[in-house]
Amino acid sequence: MSYNLLKGKRGIIFGALDENSIAWKTAERVHEEGGTFVLTNAPVALRMGQINALAEKTGSQIIPADATSLEDLEHLVEQSMEILGGKLDFVLHSIGMSINVRKGNHYTDQNYDWTQKGTDISAMSFHKVMHTLYKKDAMNSWGSIVALTYMAAQRVFPDYNDMADNKAYLESIARSFGYFFGKDKTVRVNTISQSPTPTTAGSGVKGFDGFIAYADKMSPLGNATALDCANYTVAMFSDLTKKVTLQNLFHDGGFSNVGVSNEVMEAFIKGSE
Ligand SMILES: NC(=O)c1ccc[n+]([C@@H]2O[C@H](COP(=O)([O-])OP(=O)(O)OC[C@H]3O[C@@H](n4cnc5c(N)ncnc54)[C@H](O)[C@@H]3O)[C@@H](O)[C@H]2O)c1
Repeated sequence: MSYNLLKGKRGIIFGALDENSIAWKTAERVHEEGGTFVLTNAPVALRMGQINALAEKTGSQIIPADATSLEDLEHLVEQSMEILGGKLDFVLHSIGMSINVRKGNHYTDQNYDWTQKGTDISAMSFHKVMHTLYKKDAMNSWGSIVALTYMAAQRVFPDYNDMADNKAYLESIARSFGYFFGKDKTVRVNTISQSPTPTTAGSGVKGFDGFIAYADKMSPLGNATALDCANYTVAMFSDLTKKVTLQNLFHDGGFSNVGVSNEVMEAFIKGSE
């Protein structure tokens, strides 16, 4: 269903890797709502080629950019405004990667070069994206910038590893930069804290299957899917959420406010019989 919520709006969508990606679903929904955009990802991710199908489907162009490179980001922002024919109304940062997680390093035993690289990709890149947009005055008034995050920024999830620290940093950047973007450019900046979702990045976390099932049983509405997240992001890009800024918005079927659910308790009661 389309509500034409983004008719005439232009933007950049980072992080669509394959059809499971949250950014992929978001691009599809933004397109259905009338928005136009440039798709971008790291050159190495683009080599896999799957994003071409998304570009075709949504009538979008693809511009490669490593989100840790200011040079790449400057080129991306300039080119996007040229291709789309003006300043931007929305930007989605949907980027995350921990090399320590990927290589199986325990949180207590990090390779700090990898920790730093992961922080640069997963959190500092958000600062760099906003820095570039701000410097180039690339956002229209009442534009909206969203980054995706996870509740491990507030609570302990042992296997989320150094991504927990990266997400805490990411959420803080949203508030700190969001202040200046609000004051100086009338642009809002928020993070959406999404349920565990079966994607390439998500499934990299150890024990993901158990984890996603547990979250589902804990949440009164069940886990939010990638499509649910895309819909929420569309709402955040639309003119219906103009005064929402500097927020970390939980989008998790209620998980973040539940102490325990009956379903989870039942498993323990049975277990002790
Ligand atoms: N999947 C989950 O369980 C979950 C839950 C909450 C939040 N999130 C967040 O959602 C966002 C999107 O992840 P996803 O789950 O859709 O997984 P995904 O693997 O599909 O997306 C991650 C993207 O980051 C991109 N990326 C990595 N390094 C990059 C770089 N240097 N420059 C530019 N792009 C780079 C990847 O190519 C990929 O497209 C991430 O921030 C993730 O942490 C995911």
